[in-house]
Amino acid sequence: MKELLIISAFGLMVVLHSGCYYDVEEELYPTIDCLTDNISYENDILPILIDDCFSCHNVAANFGNITLEGYDELIKYVNDGSFLGAVRHDGGFSPMPKGKPKILECEIEKISAWIDDGALDN
Ligand code: HEC
Repeated sequence: MKELLIISAFGLMVVLHSGCYYDVEEELYPTIDCLTDNISYENDILPILIDDCFSCHNVAANFGNITLEGYDELIKYVNDGSFLGAVRHDGGFSPMPKGKPKILECEIEKISAWIDDGALDN
């Protein structure tokens, strides 16, 4: 009887402890919402290009004869659909960034929202 009590007390501790563990994990890794309202070329799109694309597509590198540096250059690839197609890895487009994993889903959503809002030079 005494053993049984000890075992069930131990079992309860494990259950309580794991409950505690999950609570902490939720606090450490909250679900971050992807904000896609009022996306700006300057503040949202340009930083993505600088981080993931300009190593190959700035004026100096110009890989594939494509530069995405400057709004007037980028808008060409917005208008022919290849900017979004390439980052989404859609069929018919060369998947970008070349040789690397897709950019973050939230970054793709921001690009898509910016284009839907008219791809403004804002
Ligand atoms: C490591 C170099 C490299 C990086 C980084 C890179 N690209 Fe490219 N990109 C290329 C090359 C080379 C081509 C020419 C086509 C090919 O070889 O696939 C190209 C082609 C493209 C095209 C034309 C695709 C088509 O199917 O017409 C677009 C649009 C493009 N890149 C956008 C981007 C964007 C946006 C990023 C950043 C998210 C990016 N690239 C990152 C090397 C790169």
